[in-house]
Amino acid sequence: MIKVEGLTKRYARNIAVNDVSFEVEKGQIVGFLGPNGAGKTTTMRVLTCFMPPSSGTATVAGFDVLKQPHEVKKRIGYLPETPPLYPEMEVGEYLTFVGKLKGVPSSELKRRVDEVSERCSVSDVRKKLISKLSKGYRQRVGLAQAIIHNPDVLILDEPTSGLDPKQIIETRELIKNLAGSHTIILSTHILPEVEQVCEKVIIISKGRVVAKDSVENLTNRLRGAEAVAVEVEARDGQPLTAPEVQQRLEQIPGVSRVVFKTERDRRLQFEVESLQGRSIRADLARTVVESGWNLNELRAVGLSLEEIFLQLTATEAAAGGGQQ
Ligand SMILES: Nc1ncnc2c1ncn2[C@@H]1O[C@H](COP(=O)(O)OP(=O)(O)OP(=O)(O)O)[C@@H](O)[C@H]1O
Ligand SMILES: [Mg+2]
Repeated sequence: MIKVEGLTKRYARNIAVNDVSFEVEKGQIVGFLGPNGAGKTTTMRVLTCFMPPSSGTATVAGFDVLKQPHEVKKRIGYLPETPPLYPEMEVGEYLTFVGKLKGVPSSELKRRVDEVSERCSVSDVRKKLISKLSKGYRQRVGLAQAIIHNPDVLILDEPTSGLDPKQIIETRELIKNLAGSHTIILSTHILPEVEQVCEKVIIISKGRVVAKDSVENLTNRLRGAEAVAVEVEARDGQPLTAPEVQQRLEQIPGVSRVVFKTERDRRLQFEVESLQGRSIRADLARTVVESGWNLNELRAVGLSLEEIFLQLTATEAAAGGGQQ
């Protein structure tokens, strides 16, 4: 439904988006994740025909954003970072106005306005001036205007920003309900949001895609390389040194790295990492015990989505190049 190939966008000498490629299937909901300044908004602006790309191509439902912007715009609902609201209009009036602008037939207009007001929980403020709305309500009206013409594709730039916790939950539910019948890209820097709402994630850092995968795979990838905290103690006051233990643990099949952490009261603590997809806990326990040491602790240290995200974006910064 959305296809981006080699997309690059320069602002003067600054490259905001650098050779970005990705695809989004029909009905999919994709999280566009990245730190501040990564290029999320820029990519979305190109996709919504607000700006031309410097090079590369982007198509929506087979229509090119550069050559057929009219066709693209018809099929897209866009919630920008700052919703495009008219402060002097009432909410209902504004939604009717946007609906007309986006070509909703007048016979359906009232029903559509009612429907999106209901869906985005703004029915109770329909008579209110937009200038008098709180930030959260403005965000909801922004979402309502994005879906008024029932577009196939929704591009949502940080849809939950500025909302209170209850509204965040409601908005995520709303977005999830819209998926399936709509294809959705949403940008965020909130990792749990991606885990809760999206099927696929594209991580972007410094204008480049550093990872794209299903949320499930990415989470497994983090968890696939297992890290285990181990505490070992010599039996009966026997001497025992960290290098000795470390060497022994490094010989266990599937172990990729052993890091000595601390020594406290003759108890040695290590963090042992496994190769992807290898479970090492049983072998670790056996090795320690067979070496004649006490095993005081064996605990999985899960790598969180946060850690993988930081790892990916930090690696990108260090290497100065992209990888997928
Ligand atoms: N109009 C502009 N003129 C010049 N540079 C710009 C302009 N808009 C964005 N940039 C630069 O492009 C880069 C990407 O910005 P962009 O807004 O796309 O990031 P983002 O991922 O949306 O960040 P955030 O999470 O803060 O919204 C940044 O380095 C930014 O400074
Ligand atoms: Mg942005």
